[in-house]
Amino acid sequence: MTKFLYDARRYELQASALIADDERPAFHLSSYTGWMNDPNGFSFYRGRYHLFYQYNPYASRWDTMHWGHAVSEDLLRWSFLPAALAPDQHYDQDGCFSGSAFVTSSGEHMLMYTGVRLEKDELGRMREVQTQSVACGDGLDYQKYAHNPVLTEEDLPEGSSRFDFRDPKIWRSARGDFLALIASRPADGSGQLLLFRSPDGFTWRYWKVLLSNGNRLGKMWECPDLFELDGKGVLLVSPQDMLPRGLEYHNGNGTLCLIGHFDEEKGEFIEEHDQAIDYGIDFYAPQTLLTEDNRRVMIGWMQNWDACAIRESASLWAGQMSLPRELRVRDGRLYQLPIRELDSLRRNERRYDEVLIQGRKTLAGIEGRVIDLELELRSADPSRVYRKFTMDFAQNKEHRSSIIFRPYNQTLTIDRQFSGSRRAIVHQRSCLVKGSADGSLKLRIVLDRFSAELFINEGEMAMSTSLYTPLDAVGIRFDVDGEALLSLKKYELVL
Ligand code: FRU
Repeated sequence: MTKFLYDARRYELQASALIADDERPAFHLSSYTGWMNDPNGFSFYRGRYHLFYQYNPYASRWDTMHWGHAVSEDLLRWSFLPAALAPDQHYDQDGCFSGSAFVTSSGEHMLMYTGVRLEKDELGRMREVQTQSVACGDGLDYQKYAHNPVLTEEDLPEGSSRFDFRDPKIWRSARGDFLALIASRPADGSGQLLLFRSPDGFTWRYWKVLLSNGNRLGKMWECPDLFELDGKGVLLVSPQDMLPRGLEYHNGNGTLCLIGHFDEEKGEFIEEHDQAIDYGIDFYAPQTLLTEDNRRVMIGWMQNWDACAIRESASLWAGQMSLPRELRVRDGRLYQLPIRELDSLRRNERRYDEVLIQGRKTLAGIEGRVIDLELELRSADPSRVYRKFTMDFAQNKEHRSSIIFRPYNQTLTIDRQFSGSRRAIVHQRSCLVKGSADGSLKLRIVLDRFSAELFINEGEMAMSTSLYTPLDAVGIRFDVDGEALLSLKKYELVL
């Protein structure tokens, strides 16, 4: 083991002891210590789910990336393992960036990641040269391949930038060899996704451009993932530099799903539909895996580059993952719901049927910060649809976050302005819930200590946000401008 990895492992063991369990999310993976961003190497190996992540153990801010490592049997109860990769080679000395994992024919766990080395460009600016490398291991310790990097600028099609070539997503093709989809920046300054092939995971060659963004949806596309689901090809990317489009896409770093047809033989993707993956504030760089029982499960970084300042830099951990979500394609759209394993954590049901709400109301037993809430709303009088429904949560005298639904323009808003944030960043986001003008809406709201995730109309849309409100703010209250009937089921989530 190199000194870099040894030091990181020793440091994280000591520093993590200073973080009490109840200062972390209860069932969302957070960084062992220091900083976390993208999920990496999300895979199933030797009976357990492995989740790696972009990791700076030494401080709660982004810096020279390592790979953190955690394992779980149910995707909810996570145990930390020692850091898997440290930036300890000449080709990755400035960072081990995002990548994926797979199991080789000989049963080894292989990680493919982007190695970063800073180099001065012709103007004397420091730029990141990005190449791809692999490391093999037993689920605990990983050995970087002696002939790394396995893909470099030499393998790029003409005009592609050697400073933006990252985030390999690898899978075994129907032919039996390996394919990797890697993000790159072509000469137009936008994004493209490149396909590479390998017989064994070690020797790679460039195959073709799968898709060019052509400056249509943001610029560089980061962290691609591609799979078949319900008879469709599904491509996930996280674009940088987005321009807004109605309430579908917001400015800055976003998430995007293209649904269409993927022909693996030809290496072609025919797009039929595009949509945001998550319409909230904090969600980026998702990655998926196929569970043993064939469910396509996605997990994302529940934070966003444009809103990182929400987290106080003095905190000992920064960054958490979203809930693992089961994906489906229905009527050409991506649907997502919390993995069904979450149901097994439900305790102490409180239930209300068709309660009339006019003005402000609290309901006995409806409160808490680690809960699962199913809520159904409809207008008390279909000829006079209520104007606005608000649910405040994580609420006390000083704090609240809110979910606000306005049937007249069919918008659902999540607002964390009063959650305790002291930063001038995005605190609010809205999405358009089609077909809700009559005031009917179904919501599932999963709260963990430092987050809220909303699943709208059986998973048709999702909205996620992190919030760092003091944990004694447990209140939930409802407010209706007009008259609405509310049914709900609330469960505590107990691990
Ligand atoms: C996305 C990303 C990736 C990169 C990593 C660096 O959030 O920018 O493209 O590999 O983060 O930490």
